[in-house]
Amino acid sequence: MGNATFEGIVLEIRRFAETAKDIAALEEFCVGILAERLSDYNWVGFYMLDPSDESVLVLGPYRGAPTEHVRIPVTEGICGAAVAQGEAVIVEDVSADPRYLACSLETQSEIVVPIRAHGKVVGEIDIDSHRLNAFGGDDRAFLENCAEAVGKFLER
Ligand code: SME
Repeated sequence: MGNATFEGIVLEIRRFAETAKDIAALEEFCVGILAERLSDYNWVGFYMLDPSDESVLVLGPYRGAPTEHVRIPVTEGICGAAVAQGEAVIVEDVSADPRYLACSLETQSEIVVPIRAHGKVVGEIDIDSHRLNAFGGDDRAFLENCAEAVGKFLER
């Protein structure tokens, strides 16, 4: 996947964010464009920290198979690990990672990128792929740019 595709998507997300009516609309736009344009991005979703209990991540807008993991303690899963570490987590083979919480039997690799607002982690973007080792440094940089656009929107 060329960087031009990634750059174009980031520009579209930033443009949408300029006039988005609320965070839910921006998150919907992000999951839609990522799932539609990127063939390895088979499950795309937001998990945000519950404002009334910041030890739990709550599933937001997503594309892909429904998941039973609608609330994930920050001590669990790849999703929890990304919050605990405060940085992106890439798992090349989910079957080899004991932290992994299964969503779909088809998932083989995963990337989770934190979203920050006012310097603090407030949530994350979670992507699953049906392909082994689907995510690398380019995906990480791209998703960090997407997460930054969402974080900046939340800071307004
Ligand atoms: N795999 C994630 C759980 C979320 S589902 O993939 C949608 C995890 O291990 O935290």
